[in-house]
Amino acid sequence: MPGPFDLEDVQAYREWREEKLSFAATRIEVIELGNPRNLRTSEREALLASCARTNTAIYRSPITHEDKSLPRLLGLQLGLERLDGNYLADDDGISSITPGAGTRGEFIPYTDRAIGWHTDGYYNPASRRIRAMTLHCVRAAEEGGESALMDHELAYILLRDEDPEFVRALSAPEVMTIPPRLEGEALARPAETGPVFSVDEREGVLHMRYTARGVNIAWKDDEPTRAARAALERLLSESPYVVRLRLEPGMGIVCNNVLHARTAFRDTPQRRRLLYRARYYDRIAARAELKSAAR
Ligand SMILES: [Fe+2]
Repeated sequence: MPGPFDLEDVQAYREWREEKLSFAATRIEVIELGNPRNLRTSEREALLASCARTNTAIYRSPITHEDKSLPRLLGLQLGLERLDGNYLADDDGISSITPGAGTRGEFIPYTDRAIGWHTDGYYNPASRRIRAMTLHCVRAAEEGGESALMDHELAYILLRDEDPEFVRALSAPEVMTIPPRLEGEALARPAETGPVFSVDEREGVLHMRYTARGVNIAWKDDEPTRAARAALERLLSESPYVVRLRLEPGMGIVCNNVLHARTAFRDTPQRRRLLYRARYYDRIAARAELKSAAR
């Protein structure tokens, strides 16, 4: 399909790249919200415009009590309706990310450990592609728990500019396989094989499926793949477009499932870190809206 993400369509790529880089930010612009459950028109427009430019918006609000209706209502106002029914999510499809006991404690998000670079739902089948994700901080940890974010479209640009073969390697349909997950003898999730970079056929937007995890991921075993993975890891460690912040109570992130990571943290019984996370099959703002989002 011709367009900016077709390696042969150099003209479309140049135009898209130029516009995209004109919006690229190396610092965080935090949007103040009075009540994320009930946005003013100007607040909603500011969130949508930020997402159209950088696939991400960061907000600060005074709402710091436990209320799981907040992420659901905020999402609805941004066109996010179809929640992913993660089996670890609470019944309403919104996960309480907090260090927990039991089954959840086996999974890194529900511990105090660092989480490397990834996009959400990289182990999901294409039919359950996570196009958007939100985080709302109810309580921060005693220390640590800093987030890092990078617009996956900028990662694509930096890779393609360095060597289009990196993009070609990471777009191969068999480049990354997540092995099946077993619960005892039972198959809890089948193996998932797919590309890192793909283009959403319906909307023509770029989707990225990635995890930096070294274990339990089967990468295509050839030199172009190794070179592309190394280039991606390098740029995630040194790019000026990596945004780092610590979510404080009332703050949150809404994004089109950009690359993200988190540092380890330490909390106490008095200050138990709690974030609400919602994952959606919907996307926040289409690329077509970019032009109208110009500052
Ligand atoms: Fe994540």
